Amino acid sequence: MDKIFIFLGPPGCGKGTQTANLSNKLHLPHIDTGSLLRKHVQKETPYGLEAKSYMDKGQLVPARIVADIIKTRILEPDTEHGYILDGYPRSIEQAKLLEDVFKEIGEKKEIVAFYFDIPTDTLVERLVNRRFCPKCGMIYNKKSSPPKIDNCCDICCEKLSKRSDDTEEVAQERFKTYFKETAPLLEFYKEKGILEEIDADKPIDEVWEEIKELADIEPDDSEMDSIRTEE
Ligand code: AP5
Repeated sequence: MDKIFIFLGPPGCGKGTQTANLSNKLHLPHIDTGSLLRKHVQKETPYGLEAKSYMDKGQLVPARIVADIIKTRILEPDTEHGYILDGYPRSIEQAKLLEDVFKEIGEKKEIVAFYFDIPTDTLVERLVNRRFCPKCGMIYNKKSSPPKIDNCCDICCEKLSKRSDDTEEVAQERFKTYFKETAPLLEFYKEKGILEEIDADKPIDEVWEEIKELADIEPDDSEMDSIRTEE
């Protein structure tokens, strides 16, 4: 059956890294509200201009903006056989709005929520060392998964960038927002019987193995998954 995967977890837990793997593997669109919002900010759209001040402070962007952006995206034709929501919903309010959107558009796909369980004290280091390719979006880490050539994307050779909210100060605010707004969603999805917990406090390739098992992906000896492993 076609599925909708929801990835939940604190900033830096590895959602983006693993949703990219799952998206490549299952050929499903990876819908990441953080990236969609950053595009609006970059293009200085009305949504982007409003969202920027919240993002700079590590707070949630107002729910109506994110719901509009998500609704537009999930109505695109590539979502017909399922999709992966990375970082959405991020509060009970957003989860209820998403249910309203599903009712409105007649969405009947099975929903699975993956929660990345990891202590947040290890995550600041991951965030301040994160780099990404502005061209293809590939995620790196100066310590746990560096590019082959320093500061240069392995795929497109573009110079790597650092996100403006990946500072220790903003990261602490993002954790506070996570515990206040997002953590209550775990109970919300547990009560619906659709929450799967993943031990995210281990290397990238081991987390990916756990996800493949939970997503019922057959092991394939010939595959070389495009995962970035610790070096
Ligand atoms: P967003 O961009 O979604 O940021 P986030 O949720 O804080 O999550 P991150 O992208 O920081 O972390 P991740 O879990 O994806 O980790 P990654 O795989 O990159 O949101 C940014 C802002 O936008 C929010 O603060 C908010 O303002 C706004 N926003 C977004 N969605 C919103 C919503 N729904 N509603 C309202 N506002 C919203 O990995 C991190 C690093 O660790 C990388 O360097 C990676 O290489 C490394 N790494 C990954 N896995 C491992 C591992 N297993 N071991 C070692 N290193 C690892």
